[in-house]
Amino acid sequence: MKLTLKVWRQNGANDNGRMETYPVNDVSEDMSFLEMLDVLNDQLVRDGKDPIAFDHDCREGICGMCSLFINGEAHGPGRGITTCQLHMRKFKDGDTIHVEPWRSAAFPVIKDLATNRGAFDRIQAAGGFVSVNTSGNLVDGNAVPIPKDDADKAFDAATCIGCGACVATCPNGSAMLFTAAKVSQLSLLPQGKPERKRRALAMVEQMDKEGFGNCSNTGACEVECPKGISLEHIARLNREYLAATVTKE
Ligand code: SF4
Ligand code: FES
Repeated sequence: MKLTLKVWRQNGANDNGRMETYPVNDVSEDMSFLEMLDVLNDQLVRDGKDPIAFDHDCREGICGMCSLFINGEAHGPGRGITTCQLHMRKFKDGDTIHVEPWRSAAFPVIKDLATNRGAFDRIQAAGGFVSVNTSGNLVDGNAVPIPKDDADKAFDAATCIGCGACVATCPNGSAMLFTAAKVSQLSLLPQGKPERKRRALAMVEQMDKEGFGNCSNTGACEVECPKGISLEHIARLNREYLAATVTKE
């Protein structure tokens, strides 16, 4: 395939940025989108030009690092996949493809298509953990009975890979789906219950501090989430937060 790429180039958070156009030839439909960008970068380096910066790590849908807005969709066309799982067979010979970084005030651009998603790490650090006894007198996790339904829901929430597509897709730039997944994952399990009030309050407070927008229930986040994290988790976060607020000491 021969393609035309229009790629966002930006030299740091203070640069205005601009779209630049690149022709790419010899693209196989079996390439992943990131492999196609590798081909373009090889070409740019051979021509003595600055390669395009973009994030990636596992390239198998696990780490959440890849993060491209492709033709106006987070992780491009297709549902339930990350950018690294997107293949060029989704496009046609002669297509023009627009590639942009996640757009959110809370995810400043580092360079080109790479953004700083440290805000997610700080939300997680505010309460996305359980405190455990490390004295040696431990209860084996498998000895704690957990209803199957709760275990399944907690596992669904735990599949969030922290990619940020929910934020990039939301017209308000809200991080509610991410925060809700992290709160739900722990609040559903017995090990997470002792700290549930403190967790919900601290994680929501940090989310607000980071400058994410408010949730207005558009549901766009659920549609574009590569792991299918359900809006039900946002409802659970709202209940957790309300309960923590009214019973706060
Ligand atoms: S909720 Fe979905 S879209 Fe949002 S960070 Fe987690 S995996 Fe990515
Ligand atoms: S590179 Fe790890 S999820 Fe895409």
